[in-house]
Amino acid sequence: MTDAAANQNLVVRDVTPDDEAVVRDLVTAAFPSDMEARLVHTLRHCGALVLEQVAVDEQAAVVGHVAYSRVTPAAVGPGHALQVACLAPVSVWPDKQRAGIGSVLIRSSLRKLKELGEDLVLVLGPPSYYPRFGFDPVLARKVQGPYAGDAFMALALTDTGSSDLPIEVAFATPFQEFE
Ligand SMILES: CC(C)(COP(=O)(O)OP(=O)(O)OC[C@H]1O[C@@H](n2cnc3c(N)ncnc32)[C@H](O)[C@@H]1OP(=O)(O)O)[C@@H](O)C(=O)NCCC(=O)NCCS
Repeated sequence: MTDAAANQNLVVRDVTPDDEAVVRDLVTAAFPSDMEARLVHTLRHCGALVLEQVAVDEQAAVVGHVAYSRVTPAAVGPGHALQVACLAPVSVWPDKQRAGIGSVLIRSSLRKLKELGEDLVLVLGPPSYYPRFGFDPVLARKVQGPYAGDAFMALALTDTGSSDLPIEVAFATPFQEFE
């Protein structure tokens, strides 16, 4: 295992209501403004989240957070029945970044998403970061929606996630602020 966090005994678990305040502070600290923290809050409370998890260290402190929200395929087309999720945002405290926490959190949460029956995961982010988890901008070209380009990547978790394409998708309503 190459992740530095392999030695940190991180636990990745689902978010509980008790985590909401620290998650808001963490997401706000990780990004230049509180826009992403507000996005998480809105997604959570409009029922759009498929999975929300935190990474917790040995002292039980929350050190990372990731949210996946529902993406809706168009009612027609080969991929109309696919279960599609969007990874956004992912956050690690600034003074704890680049120590492997984000990698442990993303890998673990992707395994959980697969267990939950998700077929396809989409992300918009740095092309230098997400391919290490299997995200692929070429696969994402078969996903039509508001995003395009090399920063838009897709990861199939099942065979149908890569075979039942192309699809047209709509992201959860709170993302319209980012389009
Ligand atoms: C992105 C983020 C979640 C990654 O978590 P992390 O714990 O720092 O990442 P890891 O330690 O697991 O991975 C480190 C690698 O990620 C790269 N990386 C980290 N943040 C990056 C970024 N914003 N863009 C590109 N690469 C990034 C590092 O360069 C390093 O690469 P290397 O392994 O080739 O040296 C974290 O840096 C963060 O919270 N950043 C601010 C918020 C953000 O940009 N979120 C993602 C938006 S899509």
